[in-house]
Amino acid sequence: MAKRVILAYSGGLDTSVAVRWITEEWGAEVIALAADVGQSSDDDWETIRQRALAAGAVEAIVADVRDEYAEEFVLPALQANALYEGKYPLVSALSRPVIVRHLVRAARAHGADAVAHGCTGKGNDQVRFEVSSRALAPDLEVLAPVRTWGFTRDDAIDYAHAHGIPIRVRKDSPYSIDENLWGRAIECGIIEDPWVEPPEAAYALTGSVANAPAEPTQVVVGFEHGVPVSLDGAALPLRELIATLGVTVGRYGWGRIDMVENRRVGIKSREIYECPAALALVLAHADLESITLERDLLREKARLEPRYAELVYDGLWHSPLRAALDAFVGASQRPVTGEVRLRLEPGRCFVAGRRAERALYDYELATYDAADAFRHDDAAGFVRLWGLGVETIARRQGPPE
Ligand code: ARG
Repeated sequence: MAKRVILAYSGGLDTSVAVRWITEEWGAEVIALAADVGQSSDDDWETIRQRALAAGAVEAIVADVRDEYAEEFVLPALQANALYEGKYPLVSALSRPVIVRHLVRAARAHGADAVAHGCTGKGNDQVRFEVSSRALAPDLEVLAPVRTWGFTRDDAIDYAHAHGIPIRVRKDSPYSIDENLWGRAIECGIIEDPWVEPPEAAYALTGSVANAPAEPTQVVVGFEHGVPVSLDGAALPLRELIATLGVTVGRYGWGRIDMVENRRVGIKSREIYECPAALALVLAHADLESITLERDLLREKARLEPRYAELVYDGLWHSPLRAALDAFVGASQRPVTGEVRLRLEPGRCFVAGRRAERALYDYELATYDAADAFRHDDAAGFVRLWGLGVETIARRQGPPE
């Protein structure tokens, strides 16, 4: 049995109860680790740290992992245009491996023999925590108290009261929220009925279309080698660029996703997401690729992108295939330098223009104007050879029925 445990701590009800429950039931010391991945919170980090200590943690650590999350996890996923089942930019799936990296680091620094998380047995996040942890530190035990204790929400509240654990129970929020700088996931409550339209109050990062500014606007996103580096010409570090773009796009009421997705554990679940920055950046990035990447590379990359998203979704960030796909994607990004003009209208965000100094798009070749550089005579022989095979069939065997 573990003696000292690093617990991924959110400051919420379950992980607060978990601090004490692990201590009492499993007799281990708990060190709480709260990771700042860019989630918004009603409490500051010191309040969250103090809450973990008050719940019985022997130590509580806050790790600001926002920049490494943006640069080492979000960026490769953006470059892979990664959307799970064609829609979901992997908000929660990307954050788990960075959190686990810090759990394992803390375990080494504090001589712990286990890590723990507060996930239930029904979701994907337990898979991501545990698989990542085993990939990085197979010697560490992974504990899942919430999966073990079988408390209802009311049981957990009673436990907290009985043990004097300070909690802030938000009766007004009927949803389970997971958030970081790449977006926000909303689960539970009435949206578990896939027929029910999510109430406006479920959203925090995107406004309603009715409240969007009536005047359209535009934002120019600048990329260098596949990395978003500027907005309207002003250079910004990735994390700030994501945050700034998210606010603008969200105000126009764009960036919401309503889907029924296939979880790794075999359940179909109705999920609501709001990812204004992530969706706008994938849109812009993929568009810039369309004028800077050669056709065969673009097509092969497009074939691999869904596979990349599945791997990350399924908790296999730390897999040789993900690393190899990242190498492929990374190698493809050298020419992806240029600008994409996004136009925002109430409830809409679309590409209104794109340009790149080294674009493969060549006006002289593409234009239907008189002064083009295309050698029209070359076309006749090319097309004749292209059709030679089917022509031969027609001559020898007759045309198709
Ligand atoms: N269904 C999404 C995913 O698997 C979101 C999970 C949200 N997690 C949460 N603890 N509420 O990536």
